[in-house]
Amino acid sequence: MELREKNKLKAIEAEARAKAKADRENRDITLEQIRLKAAENRVTILESIKTAGSVVGSGLNALVTDWDKTLAAAGGLSLLALGIYTAKGATSVTARFIEARIGKPTLVNETSRFSLLEAVKHPILTISKAITNFRKPSDALAGVVLAPNLERRLRDIAIATKNTRINKGFYRNLLMYGPPGTGKTLFSKKLATHSGMDYAILTGGDVAPMGKDAVAAIHKVFDWANTSRKGVLLFIDEADAFLRKRSSERISEDLRAALNAFLYRTSDQSNRIMLVLASNTPQQFDSAINDRLDKMIEFGLPGYEERERLIRLYFDKFVLQPASEGKRRLNVDQFDYGALCSNLATRTAGMSGRALSKLGVAWQAAAYASDDGRLTEQMCISICDDAVKDHRQKMEWLSNEEKTRSMMPYLLDLPPLDKPENDFNNSNDEVVQEATKTPMKAKKQKSVPKEPETEK
Ligand SMILES: Nc1ncnc2c1ncn2[C@@H]1O[C@H](COP(=O)(O)OP(=O)(O)OP(=O)(O)O)[C@@H](O)[C@H]1O
Ligand SMILES: [Mg+2]
Repeated sequence: MELREKNKLKAIEAEARAKAKADRENRDITLEQIRLKAAENRVTILESIKTAGSVVGSGLNALVTDWDKTLAAAGGLSLLALGIYTAKGATSVTARFIEARIGKPTLVNETSRFSLLEAVKHPILTISKAITNFRKPSDALAGVVLAPNLERRLRDIAIATKNTRINKGFYRNLLMYGPPGTGKTLFSKKLATHSGMDYAILTGGDVAPMGKDAVAAIHKVFDWANTSRKGVLLFIDEADAFLRKRSSERISEDLRAALNAFLYRTSDQSNRIMLVLASNTPQQFDSAINDRLDKMIEFGLPGYEERERLIRLYFDKFVLQPASEGKRRLNVDQFDYGALCSNLATRTAGMSGRALSKLGVAWQAAAYASDDGRLTEQMCISICDDAVKDHRQKMEWLSNEEKTRSMMPYLLDLPPLDKPENDFNNSNDEVVQEATKTPMKAKKQKSVPKEPETEK
């Protein structure tokens, strides 16, 4: 039994040895085969290189020795290169030409200009815009309530702009500055439509987020504006966000480059583009921007008389007109509307035109919210008082720095909320200054005797 086991083990061992030997021999054979194959490949590749070299060499030899062939080859290659470059150049010029005409630049928020792309995207809007453009307002100041001396100056500017366009003269660059909601944007839009120019509205704050693309975007705006036959009033709202001092540390490299591009494109007086800048804080402007401004117009907060006119305007627009149309569910009690407006003008000292226009909306909303859609005198007064309280709260929240920066330095002297407020009639002496080419400082204004008002 034991012997049988031993024989079995020996047989297994002999079998394993034989298998290992066979494997080793096979491996040697495989390696030999691989070596042979690699040598064969090398020979084939070397032969192909040799053949290709001799073909190219003999081709080149033939080309060089045959003068006609050399000339033909050189001419052919030059024509090919010229073709490629011409096609590339023509494509980019055509693209820029089409781009300048069919689409408005991304930086432009709003424009009166007709663009093919916009017309396809918003046909109804385009038609209504065309109708508005066709009906040019005869009065640039219709619906804008301002102190008489400011109104007179702005009327002169509107007439001068219109005549400049007609006579193809050089436009003067304007700066409108003053507290928020005093009619800067409102007037600038009216000025553009009244003068018969195209207008484009940009917002200074849109430039910084564009980063590296801002420079190209600025050039695009000017390229696009230069294609207008009517001339373009380029209105840059909140301009301080973009045109601030280059030396400032808070301004990024990209914004600095964009500002340089802007300065380059505005270095000369233009008979195609009129620049109108609006800002609450023009003291932040770069000095090169100040140098480009020909006229600076300060829009102050409305004084008593202007507030009264504004309240009448918006009471009429938001309450009396809808009530008289009878289409909507809005009724007004019978009371002395004139007396109410005078009363409210006294209460709303220090409030802007925007805040007063919002009063109109609030009255309308209150009437719609009431059970019978009726607006009473008492409701008008209490809504106004709420708005005054809110306004004073907002002013309280402003930091001293903001109060000074927002060109409302009188806010620094504002009495606490629980104390009665005086009438801040220091804001109604709007000043129109010729550009002094020096950075401005927010300054406290003194009251001037008001001229008798010429109301329409
Ligand atoms: N002088 C004004 N006459 C008539 N309405 C005014 C006047 N000022 C402001 N408003 C009303 O307030 C709204 C906002 O005014 P506008 O946009 O012109 O202010 P702004 O001076 O440009 O303010 P911001 O500095 O905040 O841009 C106008 O659409 C208008 O309804
Ligand atoms: Mg504005």
